[in-house]
Amino acid sequence: MSTKEQTYIMVKPDGVQRGLVGDIIARFEKRGFKLVALKLVQATTEHLEKHYADLKGKPFFPGLIKYMASGPVVAMVWEGLDAVKTGRVMLGATNPLASAPGTIRGDYALAVGRNICHGSDAVESAQKEIALWFPEGLVQYTNTLEGWVF
Ligand code: TYD
Repeated sequence: MSTKEQTYIMVKPDGVQRGLVGDIIARFEKRGFKLVALKLVQATTEHLEKHYADLKGKPFFPGLIKYMASGPVVAMVWEGLDAVKTGRVMLGATNPLASAPGTIRGDYALAVGRNICHGSDAVESAQKEIALWFPEGLVQYTNTLEGWVF
């Protein structure tokens, strides 16, 4: 069943530096999601280790943290029907070699360690990630299109 959800989407340092921020935002806007938080952040190693806490111990973990701390990221929260699952579909598979053309990773990425964009993988992780990246809370407003875009 479809439910209204919020998902945490983050343009990674390679996406920012390659000038893909606008494209990624445009995809979520055009799909019909509502933007409820947005900021450019230079994240600390400690913060990124919290974000990727589930992956601690993986061989790629140190390299992942170094890459994610190498430049600013764009942190966003998008809201709408099935936002978490649909966000993952729009992102494509973790390994860009398996990502379908038309997805963000399938269109722009070649390597798993430089895969452009993050998206929450479940409603519970979205809630945790939103609390971690936006402790100040989200922006409350009425979108006048609500009702046909949801
Ligand atoms: P993961 O949470 O498994 O994937 P996703 O980002 O699709 O939710 O992994 C987090 C990030 O870790 C992934 O986007 C890229 C990096 N990573 C590697 O560098 N090597 C790997 O083998 C895997 C599985 C992930």
